[in-house]
Amino acid sequence: MSEFIGQKFGKWEGEERPLFLAPMSGVTDLPFRLLAKECGADVTITEFTNSTALSRAATASWRKMESHETEVPFIPQIFGGDAKDMVTAAEMLAPNCDVIDLNFGCPAPKVTKICAGAALMGEPDNLVSMVTDIVESVDVPVTAKMRLGTGASTHNAVEICRRLEKVGAQRLCVHGRTLRQRYSGVADWDYIKQVVESVEVPVIANGDVTDSESAAKCLEKTNASGLMIGRGAIGRPAMFGYLKVGLGWMEETDLPWVKLHDDWQDLDETEQAFATRKWCWDRYIQLSKDTVGIQPRWMQRHAVAFTKGLPGGKKIRSIMHDMPTPEDFADAISEFLIGKVELN
Ligand SMILES: Cc1cc2nc3c(=O)[nH]c(=O)nc-3n(C[C@H](O)[C@H](O)[C@H](O)COP(=O)(O)O)c2cc1C
Repeated sequence: MSEFIGQKFGKWEGEERPLFLAPMSGVTDLPFRLLAKECGADVTITEFTNSTALSRAATASWRKMESHETEVPFIPQIFGGDAKDMVTAAEMLAPNCDVIDLNFGCPAPKVTKICAGAALMGEPDNLVSMVTDIVESVDVPVTAKMRLGTGASTHNAVEICRRLEKVGAQRLCVHGRTLRQRYSGVADWDYIKQVVESVEVPVIANGDVTDSESAAKCLEKTNASGLMIGRGAIGRPAMFGYLKVGLGWMEETDLPWVKLHDDWQDLDETEQAFATRKWCWDRYIQLSKDTVGIQPRWMQRHAVAFTKGLPGGKKIRSIMHDMPTPEDFADAISEFLIGKVELN
């Protein structure tokens, strides 16, 4: 078993289990993944990338696959409806990555119409044959992320996971919704539990974990070998650290943004929120500079998310587009997050 796969756990009795930052298109760029790690995430995965574009060496797609020596493990995620292109992309990625993750969960029409992403759950034979071919072609571990099923008939994630384990997939992640549901309804952790109990490989539970309470409930219900968190971490990567503190897995005083403040306990909730987000923002900018450089589009998207819900957040978002350079933009957000900027 690769050191990057982790172990299969049994019944959860409060002990630490790995936390994954979910792959999210337009969100989980390299500096954000590195930031999530510094905040407490144990494993990160790139956003999904089209295997056909990768196999044809499309520059924009390869940019999404950028990593850095500090990102360990590096786990690119690919999707596609063409098994040959999936194999080619996996072969191209394998020499420079630690694990390859396959996407069988995306519900977006532009993906499902090429019978990729979650649509492949409606064609389990093709899905399993694709994974078989990829496992046979690369010598890094192959993992898969999927939903409960398409929603057109009974859930088939249990059946698919059993078959994937047999053909060599080393870890499975299940988002507790169907393709039809997209993001509506509530994630079905009971069904994820069935998957956990049906296979020997580690199963990661995903869907609706947003804080330490929901994390504990999800682990109690599923006994999963780890949790994957998506929307709850957008603009709030610090939630990984807070989640670990809430579960008793780490001390609040060890959180990097808390360490900076001798008076942390004297700060009110809003002041703590500003201080947390300022630390995260400044690290995001620094990690960008240290790796891929500041990418204006990525930075703008994160700026909106990092300031959401804070007093004055709307105002800063309306003026931030007037900033002459990306650096000025980054500084303006950082100043705002000090929490003392007067917004007239
Ligand atoms: C903006 C956004 C982009 C996403 N992109 C991907 C992706 O590239 N690959 C993937 O497997 N899932 C993707 N997902 C799904 C998430 O990884 C995750 O399965 C889903 O959000 C449920 O988890 P949550 O309830 O913690 O958000 C995306 C979700 C969102 C909200």
